[in-house]
Amino acid sequence: MKDKISVLIPEEEVNRRIRELGEEISRDFAGQSVHLICILKGSIFFTCELAKRITVPVTIDFMRVASYGDATTSSGIVRLSKDLDDTIEGKNVIVIEDIIDTGRTLTYLLGLLSQRKPKKLKLCTLLSKPARRVTKIDGDYTGFEIPDKFVVGFGLDYAEHYRNLPYIGVVDELGDERE
Ligand code: IMP
Ligand code: MG
Repeated sequence: MKDKISVLIPEEEVNRRIRELGEEISRDFAGQSVHLICILKGSIFFTCELAKRITVPVTIDFMRVASYGDATTSSGIVRLSKDLDDTIEGKNVIVIEDIIDTGRTLTYLLGLLSQRKPKKLKLCTLLSKPARRVTKIDGDYTGFEIPDKFVVGFGLDYAEHYRNLPYIGVVDELGDERE
């Protein structure tokens, strides 16, 4: 049997909200530039769409932190598996995340990045599950608050599958086969 996935946030709504976030960031950083940090792999689709909607000068770098295995529950163990290529000192840094769940990943990451003396350090997340939070953290820019359900699409995966879905879907039922 295949996994059963239903639409939680349709493609048009995701894109509309990303456009709004881009406008908000462009207003907040008018006359300046922003340095986006894309957290691999989940944030890659969001980062690309958001960057296209920002009208101030944009640079992009990548970082990879692993806090999940192939399961749907947080391990609580955060590991930095790819560091940035460029310095962030003196830059207006915006960390781009796909989802804040327990908040453990971002709490670790923001602590690490703040030591590198950015001019500003902001957090932008496409999704947030406030009900699951175990650390005090919130996005400066948040796309959607969602219920405590496991979601896929727009970069988010289940066991590395479904990142390419153009909408946010909920895994209603797990099968023994991925689509
Ligand atoms: P946190 O440290 O618990 O906040 O976990 C954040 C990371 O867990 C995200 O960057 C995702 O990779 C993953 N994650 C959390 N919730 C979901 C979900 O509903 N679907 C897919 N990945 C998720
Ligand atoms: Mg993941």
